[in-house]
Amino acid sequence: MKGVVLAGGTGSRLFPLTKVTNKHLLPVGRYPMIYHPIMRLKRVGCTEIAIVTSPEHMGDVVNLLGSGFRFGVDFTYRVQDQSGGIAQAMGLCENFTGSDSFIVMLGDNILADDFPIDVTEFMSGSTTIAGKAHVLLKQVPDPERYGVPRLLDDTIVEVIEKPTHPPSNYSVIGVYLFDPKVYDIIRTLEPSDRGELEISDVISHYAQTKTLSHGVVRGWWGDAGTLEGYQEANSLAKDLVYEEIPVSE
Ligand code: G1P
Repeated sequence: MKGVVLAGGTGSRLFPLTKVTNKHLLPVGRYPMIYHPIMRLKRVGCTEIAIVTSPEHMGDVVNLLGSGFRFGVDFTYRVQDQSGGIAQAMGLCENFTGSDSFIVMLGDNILADDFPIDVTEFMSGSTTIAGKAHVLLKQVPDPERYGVPRLLDDTIVEVIEKPTHPPSNYSVIGVYLFDPKVYDIIRTLEPSDRGELEISDVISHYAQTKTLSHGVVRGWWGDAGTLEGYQEANSLAKDLVYEEIPVSE
């Protein structure tokens, strides 16, 4: 099964921590941040994982991760030349994912538990969450910081990126399952006010065509992309250990 970790961007919200390094290489708990999404993807059966990052930091990322041998997976690397947003970064993986459905995880998202999704079911296309697109929600006190779903009878009808007046108290977290049609949707997107191709617009498209399902995360989840989120993720992840990877070489 194929997974994608998005680790691009400038990390400007964490400056000066990110002046000379990539945000996803900063420590979170006992590991470099990017280990967390890699291990979550591996745990649900992704053995082929594409890592997307910026040209400035690709060398460091490859130095850290290598072929994937130590993680028991195969890494493929893709360069995102400009910081054009999550959807643009995903678009670079079209050749990698081909005709398969796949899972995307944002490189700065930290979860305490494995995904509450039967990924095999999704991929097989045979059950209620089968399909097209599946996202995970988490109830949060500050939804205006995230992509926020508007729900009608427990169905997502739209996702709004960082709304001033959030239509619910959920965040769409950075774990997404998509079918290959996602690439056609990405090609139709226009940049948002912040100059990015927004993942929220992609998800809204699936919502409008009634091909979106969702689950809710109960355990803790953090987005380490802001200083507050980064510090919180560090304290929450301090005892998190993945037995599969040695902490000493
Ligand atoms: C991104 C997405 C947002 C999502 C969040 C989860 O926000 O744009 O929809 O809720 O990740 O971590 P960003 O980190 O780019 O502000």
